[in-house]
Amino acid sequence: MKVGVLGTGSVGKTIGTKLVELGHEVTMGSRSATNEQAAEWAASAGAGAGHGTFAGAAASGELVFNCTSGMVSLEALGAAGEENVSGKVLVDVSNPLDFSKGRPPTLSVCNDDSVGEQIQRAFPEAKVVKALNTMNAAIMVDPASVPGEHDVFVSGNDDGAKAQVSELLQSFGWPAERIIDLGDITAARGTEMYLPLWLRLMGTVGPAFNIHVAS
Ligand SMILES: NC(=O)c1ccc[n+]([C@@H]2O[C@H](COP(=O)([O-])OP(=O)(O)OC[C@H]3O[C@@H](n4cnc5c(N)ncnc54)[C@H](OP(=O)(O)O)[C@@H]3O)[C@@H](O)[C@H]2O)c1
Repeated sequence: MKVGVLGTGSVGKTIGTKLVELGHEVTMGSRSATNEQAAEWAASAGAGAGHGTFAGAAASGELVFNCTSGMVSLEALGAAGEENVSGKVLVDVSNPLDFSKGRPPTLSVCNDDSVGEQIQRAFPEAKVVKALNTMNAAIMVDPASVPGEHDVFVSGNDDGAKAQVSELLQSFGWPAERIIDLGDITAARGTEMYLPLWLRLMGTVGPAFNIHVAS
């Protein structure tokens, strides 16, 4: 599959590298076609890796990942272009962390809205699936690095899109029974508002943890 990965941070690189390892063709997108981080990543990630602008990456992908800061995701997707995400599965990994007043960050959107919903409203023809935002990047693509059973959440309005993302997550190593479908995209409020607790846990146990829902 051809995948556009919007974002040159650790999440974009980690997901992009895993996708290339799995045989997908990945274009990493940035504000600039000559972004150094993206160029270095593309040079080192293997034959299926390329880079370009947000628009170029989104246009090339059959499926698109949003791995930009939640504070600027609408801007980045605006630059990617509505025509380049319409009709496509758009996996939103972002969190609305606002560091403008220092640490700990606050949430730039919460309670009755979320970045996932903002994106779905702004790009109504995209099939937004919120996923993977509740864990450190390394765990997203290597769940076995955390011992025991633990979970990944998906939410979105399109069942077919969630099924496709679920398949992709299984190819990342997630057991099907550990992928929890939380319903429509409004569930992104909960997974994004988990971040204050995630940050406190990280301060206590380090970043290599995840949560398990026991029932
Ligand atoms: N780090 C983690 O382990 C982790 C875990 C779960 C979820 N997340 C979430 O995943 C997302 C990506 O995190 P990250 O740490 O990899 O990267 P990040 O530093 O949050 O975001 C990097 C990307 O944001 C873009 N960007 C910055 N300012 C912009 C602007 N004004 N307009 C458009 N684009 C702009 C950058 O573009 P350029 O390429 O042009 O510089 C870059 O591609 C975040 O929302 C984060 O909260 C992170």
